[in-house]
Amino acid sequence: IFASVELAPRDPILGLNEQFKADTRPTKVNLGVGVYYDDAGRIPLLKAVRQAEARLFEQAEPRNYLPIDGIPGYNNGARALLLGAGSPLIAEHRSLTVQTLGGTGALKVGADFLKQILPNAQVAISNPSWANHQALFAAAGFPVVSYDYYDAATHGLNFDGMLASLRALPAGTIVVLHACCHNPTGVDPTLEQWQDIARTLQAGQLVPFLDIAYQGFGAGIEEDAAVVRLFADLGMTMFISSSFSKSFSLYGERVGALTLVTGGDEESTRVLSQLKRVIRTNYSNPPTHGGALVSTVLNTPELYALWAEELAGMRDRIRAMRHQLVEKIQAQGVSQDFSFVKAQRGMFSYSGLTKDQVERLREEFGIYAVGSGRICVAALNSGNIDYVAEAIARVIKA
Ligand code: LMR
Repeated sequence: IFASVELAPRDPILGLNEQFKADTRPTKVNLGVGVYYDDAGRIPLLKAVRQAEARLFEQAEPRNYLPIDGIPGYNNGARALLLGAGSPLIAEHRSLTVQTLGGTGALKVGADFLKQILPNAQVAISNPSWANHQALFAAAGFPVVSYDYYDAATHGLNFDGMLASLRALPAGTIVVLHACCHNPTGVDPTLEQWQDIARTLQAGQLVPFLDIAYQGFGAGIEEDAAVVRLFADLGMTMFISSSFSKSFSLYGERVGALTLVTGGDEESTRVLSQLKRVIRTNYSNPPTHGGALVSTVLNTPELYALWAEELAGMRDRIRAMRHQLVEKIQAQGVSQDFSFVKAQRGMFSYSGLTKDQVERLREEFGIYAVGSGRICVAALNSGNIDYVAEAIARVIKA
């Protein structure tokens, strides 16, 4: 039965990890996958997480199955981060959240449910977008188209083009939007522009699917939820996929959530019952450990405060790396202007490096970036930034 199975290409992002691991050069640097490393080049285990873990260890709870939709405290905490703790959408039961296997799991549960209720719809993603968006929605059975987003000439947003392509989409199109820290470009619309984007979706009867995997890495935890709240204030029903992989540095625990804003209490009950069927037939119910950690932090004021402080530390360090990278590339005598890197938000920079330059970085210097030129700024540190800046200068100049 396997005789005709074709070899699939490596994943454009996670496939780089495999190559990186096999590289024996001690100076190698992984700027591929979106993972935050501290200044010593380690993935941090946050203090808030360690303290939550100690509490859970003390409690020594048995590991029963979780409810299909996950830990109630986790879901409530995740939803409050998005909509705001005092949101009427929570009090009036006009929203619901299910625990999912990371942000990807949230997208997948959402996509499978959407396929049931809008079987003939298409999905529109930004050009460019996270590579897995296209693959995931296509695998769920949707035709996937793209809307204009990035302007390579300005390294900024092609706002007019974006609105024009959104206006051209047929009613019922599902539009995937990065609610903050756009992946891969690091270019976000302003809040004012978001108002127009939301109104355009509303006028065109388009279905918003907000993906927010980097909350807290832009301007702050509350600030980065502004787009979600803006859509909510307009009374729009929507899908929101969120992730704690990055903000809690819990990548391998697969901690994400799917939140839906509905038309009302009774609708929420019906919708939740269907989401539970999607989950049950995929993986039955989510795992306990990561969800329990996040829930403990979100629902314990002193741990929440500690987490918020640690997240701010990660955000500030990334910002410092952006500034240093620009200065250090300039100091190498590169005339090309890289100052746009400072204005980008989140973990990534769409560096403008070509495919050939990315290849040379990998082959000659052991520096791994995504083929599109996306680099993970969160993997730079005081030990590798000079080497990276020098290598970038070398591939640009020659
Ligand atoms: C990334 O874009 O690098 C991250 O979201 C990790 C992933 O799953 O691709």
